[in-house]
Order: sequence, then structure tokens, then C-alpha cells
Amino acid sequence: MAIDLDALMARARDCLDAAYAPYSRFQVAAAVIDDRGRVFTGVNIENVSYGLSMCAERVAIFAAITAGARRISALAVASSGADLLSPCGACRQVVAEFAAPEVPIYCDAAGKPHRWTVSELLPNGFAASRLGER
Ligand code: THU
Repeated sequence: MAIDLDALMARARDCLDAAYAPYSRFQVAAAVIDDRGRVFTGVNIENVSYGLSMCAERVAIFAAITAGARRISALAVASSGADLLSPCGACRQVVAEFAAPEVPIYCDAAGKPHRWTVSELLPNGFAASRLGER
């Protein structure tokens, strides 16, 4: 399945204004496409108890999983910032749960997105195979 990463990024940008980020004022939106070609979006959702805030990437992935998806084929992330956005460590681990190492993670930087892969962002990550025989 050929994936149009720019179209996926456009889907993320489309919901950037829905981000709930009154504390950081840093809006983030993500779009994931699953192995059936379905797109799911998410935005960051902050909380006055800061630690309860949730990143856009995980909101999008959890929406996909809730709809029955199990494999993610690409992720695009847009932000209100001018600099290249780099997903946090927690999100990298969650992406790796559902995406193969070569899956693209397309992150925005003032309209000039940069393409990484899952394995570039989380090399030698903790994976199910490391649980060993149980
Ligand atoms: N944030 C995301 O949603 N995704 C990222 O990849 C980095 C950070 C959010 C969390 C918080 O709401 C705000 O951006 C500032 O850290």
C-alpha cells in the first residue's frame, strides 16, 4: 500500500486547532494510518494536573486501536511550533508496539516535514521478543 505522507500530514494539520493546550500553548496533532488504510487523528490534551496530559500521538494511536486496528503503517505529527517536532520517549515506545521498524514517522517543521523511521527514533527498544520464553 503506497502511503501519501503529505496527505497524512494534511489530516494532522487539519485538527491542530482542536488541541487542548492551555498550559503549554504548544499545539500538537497527529494522524495515523492503519494497515487497512484507515486514518485516525488525535491532538494533545492537557490537564491542570500537568502530569495527566496526553500527547497527540498516543491519542491518535489509541483511537486507532479502539476502532480495531492493530498495525500502524505511518504516523504524521504537526505542531504549532516552528522547530522540528520530535516525539517524546513514551510515544516512541507506544508507536513501536504497533508499527514495524521501517514504518515512517513524518514530523513537521514549519511546513517542511522530516521523515524518520520507528527504528531511528527508538533503536534497541524494549519489544515483546525481549520478554523471552514465558
Ligand atoms: N506533546 C505532544 O503532544 N507530542 C509530542 O511529540 C511532544 C509533546 C505535547 C505534550 C504537551 O501537551 C505539549 O506538547 C508540550 O509538551
